[in-house]
Amino acid sequence: MMKKCLFPVAGYGTRFLPATKSMPKEMLPVVNKPLVQYGVEEAIQAGLTDIALVTGRGKRAIADHFDISYELEHQIAGTSKDVYLESIRKVINAGTFSMTRQREMKGLGHAILTGEVLVGHEDAFGVILSDDLCLNNGGDGVMAQMVKLYKQFRCSIVAVMEVPADEVDKYGVIVGTELNKGLYRVESMVEKPPIDEAPSNLAVIGRYILTPDIFDIIRETPPGKNGEIQITDALNKQASDGCVMAYKFKGRRFDCGSVPGFVEATNFVFENYYDKN
Ligand code: G1P
Repeated sequence: MMKKCLFPVAGYGTRFLPATKSMPKEMLPVVNKPLVQYGVEEAIQAGLTDIALVTGRGKRAIADHFDISYELEHQIAGTSKDVYLESIRKVINAGTFSMTRQREMKGLGHAILTGEVLVGHEDAFGVILSDDLCLNNGGDGVMAQMVKLYKQFRCSIVAVMEVPADEVDKYGVIVGTELNKGLYRVESMVEKPPIDEAPSNLAVIGRYILTPDIFDIIRETPPGKNGEIQITDALNKQASDGCVMAYKFKGRRFDCGSVPGFVEATNFVFENYYDKN
């Protein structure tokens, strides 16, 4: 049974400087909850309760967030403020949290390979990039939707969405054969293609289910786009040898790695999810 979910959280968050100078970008709050907590809640809802964090220098706040703060508990327990700790207490009780550090930033593929020691080879695992905030109006989150599909197909799965033609150069892009509505068998994938060379407008967003053979493939994957080891290149190899599916998920995704996307998410969560009482 799938249980593990990997969170690459070592990135610098340069687009949010100076806010991210000494604070991890994953701790930026969308309304009153840090981005990474939305991602962890999505994993736990999908039954992926073993949370593996690939962290880096300056990221201790993330590890502390998923641990009990005795001082705070002591101050707040039994007061009217108790309610504010409910969501994080739930997460801490439901999950286990392990960490390893990525010492050098060599790309998403490299970050995932760094997490091998935490997720092992027993079963497939999820990967969530918490910059991509995904919400599905109280229904199954994107990872839960993908876990259901994994049980059926038993191969790696990427979440995709259609993006405007002039934005394809920001994403991994897939080409595939549509099996069912919104479900594709991937034929090939390319990382951040120039706009006039993009094979489609189906862009990968930050949700993956990977089978553990991906680790050996990443080890053999040379640096690609921007000199980084790309998960897209490793998945492309996996697609040509075996099977990778792409799934048009249900729900809304916000690019919280960019300021406009982050502001949009904040307004959306405030309007639709936040209890204003
Ligand atoms: C990463 C991946 C890319 C994917 C994107 C989704 O890029 O390399 O394939 O489409 O996440 O958010 P990044 O945004 O980290 O540059």
